[in-house]
Amino acid sequence: PENQRLYPLIPPRILSPAWGLAGSPSRQRRHTLPASEFRCLSPEDAIGVFEIEREAFISVSGNCPLYMDEIRYFLTLCPEMSLGWFEEGRLVAFIIGSLWDQDRLTQESLTLHRPGGHTAHIHVLAVHHTFRQQGKGSILLWRYLQHLCCQSSVRRAALMCEDFLVSFYEKCGFRTVGPCAVSVGTLSFTELQCPVQGRAFLRRNSGC
Ligand SMILES: CC(C)(COP(=O)(O)OP(=O)(O)OC[C@H]1O[C@@H](n2cnc3c(N)ncnc32)[C@H](O)[C@@H]1OP(=O)(O)O)[C@@H](O)C(=O)NCCC(=O)NCCS
Repeated sequence: PENQRLYPLIPPRILSPAWGLAGSPSRQRRHTLPASEFRCLSPEDAIGVFEIEREAFISVSGNCPLYMDEIRYFLTLCPEMSLGWFEEGRLVAFIIGSLWDQDRLTQESLTLHRPGGHTAHIHVLAVHHTFRQQGKGSILLWRYLQHLCCQSSVRRAALMCEDFLVSFYEKCGFRTVGPCAVSVGTLSFTELQCPVQGRAFLRRNSGC
C-alpha cells in the first residue's frame, strides 16, 4: 500500500544516452556535471593531479614538485589548503598547499605541513596544457587567495618559482622576497609572498 501511494508521484526514469536522465530541462540540468566548479581536492583526485603534473613538469624536466605519495599525503592531511578547478567534472587546474611556520621556505617545507603555521605554502599550481593561456592560472590563484581569507590563521601565501615565472606571480599580487634557500638538483628558485590578512575586505564579502 505504501508503494502504491508513492508510485504516481515518481515519474518513470527514462535514460537517454546523450543526456543522462530525460525529462524536463530542469531535470536534465540536475544530472549534468557542472560546467565550472571550484572545490578543495581530496585524495581521490590524486590521479588527476598527477596526470597534469606529468605533462607539465615530468615531460619537461624529468622532475615534478609533488610525486603521487606526496600529493596523497597533503590531500589527506590538509585538503583545505588545496583548490581544484573542474570543468564538466574534469580537473583542468589545481593548487596544492600546506601550512608553514617560518618566515622563509626551507628544504623541509617541501615535504611538511605545520598545522600551527600562518603561511600557506603553495607547492604547485598547474593548468592542464589544453587550457593554458586563457587566464585560468591567474583566476585560480585569485580564487585560492580568497579561499585562504576564510582561514583566519593564514596571514600570507608563499611560493618558490623559476625566474621565468616571477613576473606572472607579481602580476597576480605576489612580491619577490629574494633567492630561495631551496634547490632541487641544479634548479634554483626565487621566493615570493603575498599578504592574506590585508585582504580582510574580501573575507567580509566572500560568504565565509
Ligand atoms: C604557469 C601556469 C600555471 C600559468 O597558467 P595559465 O592559465 O597558462 O596562465 P594565464 O593564462 O593566467 O596567464 C598567462 C601568463 O602566464 C605567464 N606564463 C605562463 N607560462 C609561461 C612560461 N612558460 N614562461 C613565461 N611566462 C609564462 C605569462 O606571464 C603569461 O602571460 P603572457 O602570455 O601575457 O606573457 C601554466 O602555464 C602551467 O601550468 N605551467 C606548467 C606548470 C608550471 O610551470 N607551474 C608553475 C610552477 S609551480
